[in-house]
Amino acid sequence: MKVLNIVGARPNFMKIAPIHRAFMKYSDISSKIVHTGQHYDARMSGLFFRQLEMPEPDYFLGIGAGSHAQQTAGIMLEFEKVIYREKPDLVVVAGDVNSTLACALVAVKEQIPVAHVEAGLRSGDRRMPEEINRIMTDSVSDQLFITENAALVNLKKENVDESKIHFSGNVMIDSLLYYLPKIKKLNIPESIGVAPNAYVLMTMHRPANVDGAEGLKKILQVVKKIAMLKKVVFPVHPRTLQHMKITGLKKEFENIAGLKMLEPQGYLEFLNLTLHAALVLTDSGGIQEETTFLQIPCITLRETTERPVTVESGTNYLLSSPDAEDVVKLAHEIFAGNAKKGIIPALWDGKAAERIVSVLREKYINSYVCGN
Ligand code: UD1
Repeated sequence: MKVLNIVGARPNFMKIAPIHRAFMKYSDISSKIVHTGQHYDARMSGLFFRQLEMPEPDYFLGIGAGSHAQQTAGIMLEFEKVIYREKPDLVVVAGDVNSTLACALVAVKEQIPVAHVEAGLRSGDRRMPEEINRIMTDSVSDQLFITENAALVNLKKENVDESKIHFSGNVMIDSLLYYLPKIKKLNIPESIGVAPNAYVLMTMHRPANVDGAEGLKKILQVVKKIAMLKKVVFPVHPRTLQHMKITGLKKEFENIAGLKMLEPQGYLEFLNLTLHAALVLTDSGGIQEETTFLQIPCITLRETTERPVTVESGTNYLLSSPDAEDVVKLAHEIFAGNAKKGIIPALWDGKAAERIVSVLREKYINSYVCGN
């Protein structure tokens, strides 16, 4: 059986790495990696490949930045050529980025089965480009691998045939557990001059928070207040940096005493910073899950989350209007030792990729042997 695994943007790499590794255990599977090039910087892509011990991609589509339509259409045109050449038996896509949807659409139109890893998550907010990508990808995928029960509820509401849905656990946690010994050995806080457990780690890159002066000014107020309580460490996403420059707010961020802005961090370095943070402040999807697993308090500055288990059972708090006073109040509670403790959700145990590959073998190897 020939499988094409799709990666494009930063959050894809740590999800596909364990799946590719699990496929490689079987001699009757040829597993190839296609990189769309949605993220192309050494710090957003190359470094992740090295740290996650992924082989060089078999195909690099080189699409890069652009509007949603340009990016999605560009990936589709290039991926179609790969499909014609490779004639795969299966395409595996992960998450909710533009690369996920673009490749799923090309494959389904060529009648190639699509497996969607991290299916069924819904924020309910259609203003998020990722929400559209999630709904569309799920609707064309043949096998849907889910990380939490809410995804099952969402997919049932959308009348998805239950035989397509598999509760496999969380491949992001597979990577985290696999690299945890290496992550623990690092000491990034010391190397950047902050004391372990005495800083707030922040990431911010969602369009609603960073595309434009209004959102960025709110974030600026939050950081100013939080930095008075504890040092803030902020690896800045390229999108955020771009908008800081466009709006002229970059200097204001740089002038905040107690704020340390860093380049985007590698996978291992970022998780080491997470492990030693007193609090994580984010608008990311995956970081809500990683903090829940590591039982580090997390405040998510978004109106909704597509990962409700992190709030209901984990260590995540959702703050819908990133009002600086509210964030400071909650941070005070957390620093006073009153953070919720949280439990690790079911099947976030490091074995999700093995379960996924085992389902896919069962579903597709037989038909392959029969000559399909
Ligand atoms: C994308 C995903 C988002 C995910 C995020 C993680 C979509 C719709 N969004 O958002 O779901 O949470 O990745 O990082 O797919 N840029 C660089 N260097 C890079 C990559 C990007 O400078 O290596 C710049 C681009 O030129 C662009 C900006 O960053 O100007 C945004 O990149 P884009 O691909 O639109 O997506 P993200 O905002 O990163």
